[in-house]
Amino acid sequence: MPVITFIQKDGSSRAVEAKNGASVMETAIHANVRGIDAECGGSCSCATCHVYVDDAFLHLLPEADEMENELLDGVASERRPGSRLSCQLTVSAQLDGLTLRIPEMQA
Ligand code: FES
Repeated sequence: MPVITFIQKDGSSRAVEAKNGASVMETAIHANVRGIDAECGGSCSCATCHVYVDDAFLHLLPEADEMENELLDGVASERRPGSRLSCQLTVSAQLDGLTLRIPEMQA
């Protein structure tokens, strides 16, 4: 199973085994990773599942669609080049080792 590492704002990190086909948000919620609220449950309408994707993995991800892009413009923490909504990222074997940072705040 692919392993995803979530890094908290205090620098602590947690590596979590993820199921192929699940979203990164679902992976975090199931593992009780702090800092991802996912208020809309993954329907791309709340932006409280914001993460910063490590540069090394950005090229492996599909581009954010228009809806995700619009929501990223309104995230509570600074939008950066690696900003993505984790409910829109699907786990695959290719993403094994994916490293994500949790933003300062989600709402
Ligand atoms: S969970 Fe709401 S936009 Fe991702």
